[in-house]
Amino acid sequence: MKLVLKFGGSILLKDEEIDTKMIKRYALIIDQISQKHKINIVVGGGNLARKYIKALGNLGAPESFKDLAGIEISRINAQIFITALKGRAYPVPPKSFDEVIRALNSGKIVVCGGMFPGQSTNAVASFIAEEMKADQLINITDVDYVYADDPKLNPDAEPIEEIKIDDFIDLIMKNPGGAGTYKLFDITAAQIIKRSRILLKFISGRDPENILKAVNNERVGTVVMSEIGR
Ligand code: UTP
Repeated sequence: MKLVLKFGGSILLKDEEIDTKMIKRYALIIDQISQKHKINIVVGGGNLARKYIKALGNLGAPESFKDLAGIEISRINAQIFITALKGRAYPVPPKSFDEVIRALNSGKIVVCGGMFPGQSTNAVASFIAEEMKADQLINITDVDYVYADDPKLNPDAEPIEEIKIDDFIDLIMKNPGGAGTYKLFDITAAQIIKRSRILLKFISGRDPENILKAVNNERVGTVVMSEIGR
């Protein structure tokens, strides 16, 4: 199988420190999955990116400049994974989709951050999933399900186990983005998932075993179904 694993930047931190213990556990699981499947990893910018974006906004920076800061931070987060994967990973986060394809052909595990202003790392993950004809894009985040409402703002929000892509798009349209504020998933990313009918999953990264469960199609987190899932 071909897989894209997207790690939200938020799950890299514990008590404001980079959680290297957890990253080592992720590296073991990624290594295990890569024995059987071709994988590309994309890492988000998380809270650190949001802090820089906020500071730049306070200082009057334009949106595109804030985006560039988010991209840099996500690339540094990608380097953390590359280091944890030792020689198994391609040594740098690719800067373009062409480079992603070349890097995948090297047989190494490719780890990317952001690439172009005006999108999120979820869009990067979706473009790569489309380009490599991935069977699944697994979004590893800090919530255990997609919820009908923001669970951090509404404690009664209902968890969703399965949702159709069009209903998922309606859900995220309620949450328009901007630098550092894409929250769950952005619309560009969702449109790519829809047109290429990629199976999209959201799972919690708090238990790294969830990644194995998702890869093995066991019930975990939220599954977003396209018309004809692959
Ligand atoms: P993220 O995709 O990491 O956003 O990019 P996030 O909301 O922090 O996501 P998680 O929680 O880590 O998954 C951080 C910011 O970097 C810019 C955007 O401003 C985005 O909000 N960015 C990222 C780009 O402009 N282009 C990219 O390709 C990636």
